[in-house]
Amino acid sequence: MTYTQEWPIETMQEQYEPPLLEIVDLRVWYGAATALKGVDFIVERGEVVVIIGSNGAGQTTIMKTISGVVELRKTVEGQVLFYGTDIAGQQTHKIQQLGISHVPEGRRIFPESTVEENLMLGAYTRFKRERGAIAGDLDAIFDRFPVLGERRKRPAGYLSGGEQQMLAIGRALMSRPFLLLLDEPSLGLAPLIVADVFEIIKELAAGGTTILLVEQMANMALEIADRAYVLETGEITLEGTGAQLLEDPRVKEAYLGA
Ligand SMILES: Nc1ncnc2c1ncn2[C@@H]1O[C@H](COP(=O)(O)OP(=O)(O)O)[C@@H](O)[C@H]1O
Ligand SMILES: [Mg+2]
Repeated sequence: MTYTQEWPIETMQEQYEPPLLEIVDLRVWYGAATALKGVDFIVERGEVVVIIGSNGAGQTTIMKTISGVVELRKTVEGQVLFYGTDIAGQQTHKIQQLGISHVPEGRRIFPESTVEENLMLGAYTRFKRERGAIAGDLDAIFDRFPVLGERRKRPAGYLSGGEQQMLAIGRALMSRPFLLLLDEPSLGLAPLIVADVFEIIKELAAGGTTILLVEQMANMALEIADRAYVLETGEITLEGTGAQLLEDPRVKEAYLGA
């Protein structure tokens, strides 16, 4: 009897699209101290996924591990699948070239360099032949953030905290990322400015940018989340849609001050 499975298998392959990002059993240690104890989650294309957690839960560790930031005495186990390919341990500029852009906690702009120079650093992994497109993207950033355009020739250190956060986001966008990692964009900003920053994140999401957001301002973050996870001392303890977690009594008590 001849018998072939080719047809259904091919069909399945055509239909299967891996998640944009899939984290599988991620374990991280700093020396002997455990920071992540086996974390699993996914981010689908076009989603805004939020991770909330208390200080020290391991949120920044997740972000740095995805974007390939190397740290002393850090051990990583598990997988970081980007479109199905494990990128764990790759160099950070390679990961950026693949399309992951990281806005780090505390922004990390270069205060002595001008606003424009800071933005251009975001494009450093792009090919020179894209010069025209890069110039166009720079103009688009200045359109979106007029204050950055007005101050393009000034040292970035003169910007306010909120403006520096816009600059850090703008810099990340200059690499034309498929996935934007935002680590506590609200940190140290006045409430009104935080609202601005969240407005920008919402706009980016509406424009189709896939976003992984880590935030201590759980309320605002969950409001813009398609899906969210709660991280507690290196473990995911809850997950659901943003709306579900906003209503969850455990989330309310621990993170929403209710
Ligand atoms: N470079 C490091 N060396 C040693 N311990 C670290 C380092 N970075 C983070 N940690 C520890 O790992 C845990 C998780 O930190 P982090 O990921 O920064 O948490 P979060 O961003 O959720 O506040 C904390 O206990 C923190 O003290
Ligand atoms: Mg952090």
